[in-house]
Amino acid sequence: MKTTLRTKRKTAPVQVADAAPEAIIELRGVIKRFSNAAGEFTILKGVDLNIDRGEFVSIVGKSGSGKSTLLNMVTGIDHPSDGRVIVNGTDIYTGVSESHRSNWRGKNLGIVFQFFQLLPMLTLLENVMLPMDYVNMYDFDERPKRAIELLTLVGLEKFANKLPVLVSTGQQQLAAIARAMACDPPLLIADEPTGNLDTRSADTIIQLFELFVSQGKTIVMVTHDPSLTSRTHRNIIISDGELIDETISRSLPQLRHRHMLEFTKIAQLRSYNPHEVILTQNQQADEFFMVRQGEVEIINGSTSSRLGKGAYFGGVELMRGTPTVVDVRAGNIPVQLLALPKRDFVRVMNESPITAESIMKTSTF
Ligand SMILES: Nc1ncnc2c1ncn2[C@@H]1O[C@H](COP(=O)(O)OP(=O)(O)O)[C@@H](O)[C@H]1O
Ligand SMILES: [Mg+2]
Repeated sequence: MKTTLRTKRKTAPVQVADAAPEAIIELRGVIKRFSNAAGEFTILKGVDLNIDRGEFVSIVGKSGSGKSTLLNMVTGIDHPSDGRVIVNGTDIYTGVSESHRSNWRGKNLGIVFQFFQLLPMLTLLENVMLPMDYVNMYDFDERPKRAIELLTLVGLEKFANKLPVLVSTGQQQLAAIARAMACDPPLLIADEPTGNLDTRSADTIIQLFELFVSQGKTIVMVTHDPSLTSRTHRNIIISDGELIDETISRSLPQLRHRHMLEFTKIAQLRSYNPHEVILTQNQQADEFFMVRQGEVEIINGSTSSRLGKGAYFGGVELMRGTPTVVDVRAGNIPVQLLALPKRDFVRVMNESPITAESIMKTSTF
């Protein structure tokens, strides 16, 4: 008997490729001013930021650049002078009272700081149960069991009935993380969570964060440690109260933050259709290009190569003052580039020998 293989045409749900993933954090034009005896200071200068559900994001910046202030806008610990903050679908400063915000925070956010976390007179178990009591989540009898599960997850079940002072600083921080996750929040906000810890404890914490992210949580973490930023999906740099464009920081990571910020302000967005010509051989180009989205094709005689996100081109020619030696076209999908004018690019390169050298070295043509 002959069997016929029939390929059944599936009417599977259509995956909309370009549908924007849902943002769990949205900041729009957030401004924060502080005033003291010396006058008024603008600490956040109009921050726009989207963080999608499931992202693991690190935030870096010099001391005093506004990192903690930025996190405090998201947690509702402080409030913006202007702008909007939407977290997990709630516009947290519009028509929301402080007590409502506090309850909302308990259910939606886990928060971890560098210092002063656990209540010293409560055991680790009691510390972890505290948020459940506060927002009245889970049945009363269920809370100790859930707290033990969390302490087990962070490897502290043996110390459940100990006071914080009897365990190491790293273990205290693990217990603080267990407490932050007590009410199973979708979002964890951490301000330098490993700043006070040795490398091994820091690594344990990042592994735990990676586990949470694999379970669908979103994590935003301020850190000073470059070895941690490489383990997140996305790294955001803040410089003097302003966010640096992520294409620029990805393409030119060794640049000083103030130069990155200057480039953020002058870079122009260019869009190209598939296969559209970007540069032609022998052209005297007057811009430096960074790939923001899509891929460009570099055609050098009979060979061709592709450059994607994080790549750049045109820098060597600008620094040497020579014409373009290749043809550059958009690849198979639309391309977005950031372009910097020659004059600004060359001036900043003259002040940035490490970046200039790295552009010279990594240039593929
Ligand atoms: N409550 C406040 N009143 C006045 N100035 C503040 C206050 N909080 C922070 N600042 C100032 O805002 C700037 C940014 O602070 P912060 O966000 O804590 O920086 P970071 O976390 O990046 O080190 C600093 O110059 C700090 O002194
Ligand atoms: Mg800080």
